[in-house]
Amino acid sequence: MDTDALATRTGTVMAAIRAKLANRALTPGDRLPSIRRLATTMGVSPSTVVEAYDRLAAEGLIRARRGSGFYVAGSGSPPMALAEAGPQRDRAVDPFWVSRQSLDADPKTMKPGCGWLPADWMPMAALRRALRAHARAEDAMLADYGSTRGSPNLRRLLMRRFAEEGLEIPPEQLLLTASGTQAIDLICRFLLTPGDAVLIDDPCYFNFQALLRAHRVRIIGVPYTPSGPDIAAFETVLTTERPRLYITNSALHNPTGATLSPQKAYRVLSAAAQHGLTIVEDDIFVDFEPDPSPRLALLDGLDRVIRIGSFSKTLSASLRCGYIAARGDWIDGLVDLQVATGFGGPSPIAAETVTGVLAGGGYRKHMEELRGRLTRARRDVAARLELLGIRPWLMPRGGFYLWCRLPDGCDSAALARAALDENLVLAPGNVFSVSQTASSFLRINVAQAIDPHVIEALGRAMKVAKTAGSSSASTTA
Ligand SMILES: Cc1ncc(COP(=O)(O)O)c(C=O)c1O
Repeated sequence: MDTDALATRTGTVMAAIRAKLANRALTPGDRLPSIRRLATTMGVSPSTVVEAYDRLAAEGLIRARRGSGFYVAGSGSPPMALAEAGPQRDRAVDPFWVSRQSLDADPKTMKPGCGWLPADWMPMAALRRALRAHARAEDAMLADYGSTRGSPNLRRLLMRRFAEEGLEIPPEQLLLTASGTQAIDLICRFLLTPGDAVLIDDPCYFNFQALLRAHRVRIIGVPYTPSGPDIAAFETVLTTERPRLYITNSALHNPTGATLSPQKAYRVLSAAAQHGLTIVEDDIFVDFEPDPSPRLALLDGLDRVIRIGSFSKTLSASLRCGYIAARGDWIDGLVDLQVATGFGGPSPIAAETVTGVLAGGGYRKHMEELRGRLTRARRDVAARLELLGIRPWLMPRGGFYLWCRLPDGCDSAALARAALDENLVLAPGNVFSVSQTASSFLRINVAQAIDPHVIEALGRAMKVAKTAGSSSASTTA
């Protein structure tokens, strides 16, 4: 037999056993499958299994007992490789960087770069109450799939909230999804084909880029100003690139905290109508606004604007629950796609928990307190950043981000790398920028930066990044 093929098969068997050891399906003292049985299961010859077992025995992972077979060695399964479980420090500073660093960080890591509030800023008592109520729920709610459009209770509640804002929609125009991200993914699946042009703000939430790359579309950035997209650039791009979709946050834009002005809202909608553009308005930060700003979905009445949102920023990111409000004749197609790709939207348990908190009466008070707390945090953190020469591009009306300019000569990617040694995850500017023109910016989450140690660590990382920058500049000179 070809020796390469034999080596590959042996490697496959070894990898299968290693995986069982790593996930604890096999633990110290367990007997491994017999040679004949594993050979049949894996479709290889018994000699391949013998070879694989011998090699694993040579590595000390398993041992043979004469006449009785192979057993997992006493020292047991290899320890879970922590390097694999934690964030990879050496990966490129790209749109996945912040997500990976902050999602995989250990609990002690300071995360002013992450995109969520600390757990103790969330309505924990109301969440626990809503979860406890599930103990008395009907079996079906705890055991079954949900309906294709998601919990009628939550949809009714959302429709009432939309109506309070002036957006009256029938139930046929609302679909619950497993998250805000899932909502945008479904819309992309529904409307786009690879190669289509899609507009995003520059800068914008980094995962828009990551998601659009997965859909293999052409990503086009439009410069963002303190009052919305640069309208001249927006109109030009509509003519030259004929994009199918524009994805944006009108209220408390991520990462800048800017808000769309009424004039820009009008121009965006007029240009969209003229060029057949569909707009996804991601309203995830709406409840953080002190008072409502112009909303494209409201002005357009869900004709060419699709509104999406979720509860990750205000209630719980763990629950995974979002929504799409769109034209009635699009919802059916989106429902089919959600069945095809996820066999439904949010878990009924997640949707009913969200409903419990929203209907519980304490939500408005929670948001009011949160807005006050965030206003103080924005002011305090901005004052501390100022001492390091870091200044917000604008002071947002609400929310938890400050989009900050670093002092001259400070590169935010180099700073973010240096910050890892301070146990600090930062969000460097270029991960938000399609044109890669934001290297001197940093997005700071004020709720995660309120502890003075965070800004102190940032100051130390800046010194290291500056020294590294100047020594590499002198070597290249
Ligand atoms: C603008 C924006 N949209 C969507 C999301 C994703 O939300 P979800 O947790 O619902 O997927 C985020 C998360 O940071 C966000 O900032």
